[in-house]
Amino acid sequence: MKIKLFLVVPFLSLLSCVSKKQVTATAQTTEVVAVNTEDPGKGLFQKQCAACHDLYAPNAYTAQQWEPIVFEMQKKGDIPNDETYIILDYLKKNAKPQ
Ligand code: HEC
Repeated sequence: MKIKLFLVVPFLSLLSCVSKKQVTATAQTTEVVAVNTEDPGKGLFQKQCAACHDLYAPNAYTAQQWEPIVFEMQKKGDIPNDETYIILDYLKKNAKPQ
């Protein structure tokens, strides 16, 4: 799932590059940054959420179930707000389907 996304996203930006001409050159740069910022969620999750127990798989819970769990863990681990939301976002994207 994750791997497929990384294959598809660069491919799509390549396509839009071909169709939109040079004017969009700056927009392309932003897209690349956006693709790269997808990973910090995973990195933060691995860093912050393995301190007390083994990592739970993102797809062990649905997006709806993750929300209260993550905020509970934020309190336990004193995880900063911004990092908590990045982690939650990552978990929701990779959560078990409803
Ligand atoms: C300060 C220690 C600590 C940190 C940091 C921590 N956890 Fe936990 N976690 C616990 C403890 C203790 C339990 C088991 C007791 C409980 O459920 O309250 C637990 C339980 C869980 C469970 C099982 C909950 C359930 O209802 O069965 C999940 C899922 C989980 N943690 C995910 C995470 C995630 C995601 C993060 C990072 C955002 C995280 N934990 C960070 C201590 C921590």
